[in-house]
Amino acid sequence: ALRGSFALKVQKENQSSQYHLQPHATFKVAVLGAAGGIGQPLALLIKMSPLVSALNLYDIANVKGVAADLSHCNTPSQVLDFTGPSELANCLKGANVVVIPAGVPRKPGMTRDDLFNINAGIVRNLIEAVADNCPDAFIHVISNPVNSTVPIAAEVLKQKGVYDPKKLFGVTTLDVVRANTFVAQKKNLKLIDVDVPVVGGHAGITILPLLSKTKPSVSFTDEEIQELTVRIQNAGTEVVEAKAGAGSATLSMAYAAARFVESSLRALDGDGDVYECCYVQSDLTELPFLASRVKLGRQGVEALITSDLQGLTEYEQKALETLKPELKASIEKGLAFAQKQT
Ligand code: NAI
Repeated sequence: ALRGSFALKVQKENQSSQYHLQPHATFKVAVLGAAGGIGQPLALLIKMSPLVSALNLYDIANVKGVAADLSHCNTPSQVLDFTGPSELANCLKGANVVVIPAGVPRKPGMTRDDLFNINAGIVRNLIEAVADNCPDAFIHVISNPVNSTVPIAAEVLKQKGVYDPKKLFGVTTLDVVRANTFVAQKKNLKLIDVDVPVVGGHAGITILPLLSKTKPSVSFTDEEIQELTVRIQNAGTEVVEAKAGAGSATLSMAYAAARFVESSLRALDGDGDVYECCYVQSDLTELPFLASRVKLGRQGVEALITSDLQGLTEYEQKALETLKPELKASIEKGLAFAQKQT
C-alpha cells in the first residue's frame, strides 16, 4: 500500500489486508473552491469514497448546482452547499479534512508565482476560517503557488495559535502521478506497479523526481533521466499550453487530490500503512518546508521518510542543491506576506 488509492480499489485491496473488510463512512470532508475546474471533478471523486459521510462544498458562487447534481449519486455521503463568506464557518465545523483548490489558475506564459498576488490573499482568508472552525482538521492546500501558499497557511495558523505542522499539507500528488505515468510509458512497465518519489517543491525546477528510487527498480540512461525530469517538471505547462487560455490541469489534478484525500482518510481511520509525497514542514534539509515522502497516521504526519534523500545520484544531488535557493525564496515570500498582515 505504498501507493495511495481510492474508492473501489480501496475496498478491493482491503479484503486481503488487516485493515477493515468494508470501510465505513464516518468522515466529513470540506472542499473550498468546489465550483471550480478542480473543485467539481474532485468533489465527484470524493463523493465516491466509502469513507466519507459528509461532503461540504464551499465557493463564492455556483456551488448550489454542483451540490444538487452530486447529491443524486447513490453513495454514502450527504452533500451540502455553502455560498460566500457568511456560510464558510458552517461549512467547516466538524470537518476532518479541508481541501483548498480555491483561486485562479495559470494561463499560457504564466508561472505559478504569477498567481501569488491573488491566491495568497484567498488562502490567507480561508485558513483563518479553518483556524477558527476546525483547527484539528488535516488541511490540503492545492492553490498555487503551493511553495508559498503553504508557508502562508502555516503562519496564519501560528498567529491564531493552532498551528500543527503535522496536519498542514501542500498537495504535490500530481507530480508523483505524472512521474509514475511517464516512467511507465517510457520503460514499458505495468503502470500500477510504478512508484517514483518526487521531492522538493511544486513549481518548475523545484519539482525533483528521484528516478533512481523508482520502484520497481529500473535503469535509465543519462538522456532518459534528463528528458523525464524535464517533462515531469514542465507537465503542468504542457496542459496549460494545450488548454490555450482555458486554465491548467483540472482532471488529473482532481484525480491526484482525491488520492491524497483517500490516503488521509485511511490514515485517520487507522490504516497503519499509508505513505504519500507531499509538501510539509520539514527538517530533512535546511529548508523549513520540503516535499518528501511521509508516513501518514491518525495525527497527520507520523514520520518523514529520510531514506529517499539518502544515496542520491550525482544528478539528483546537484538538482536538489540547485532548487534550494528558489524554494527558499518562495517560502520567504509567503512568510513575509503573512507577517506583514498583522
Ligand atoms: P478555477 O478558476 O477553475 O476554480 C477556482 C475556484 O475557486 C472558482 O470556482 C472560484 O469561484 C473559487 N474561488 C475564488 N476565490 C475564492 C474564495 N475566496 N473562496 C472560495 N473559493 C474561491 O481554477 P482551478 O483550475 O480549479 O485551479 C484552482 C487552483 O489550483 C489554482 O490556483 C491552480 O493554480 C491550482 N492548481 C494546483 C495544482 C497542484 O498540483 N497543487 C495543479 C493544478 C492547479
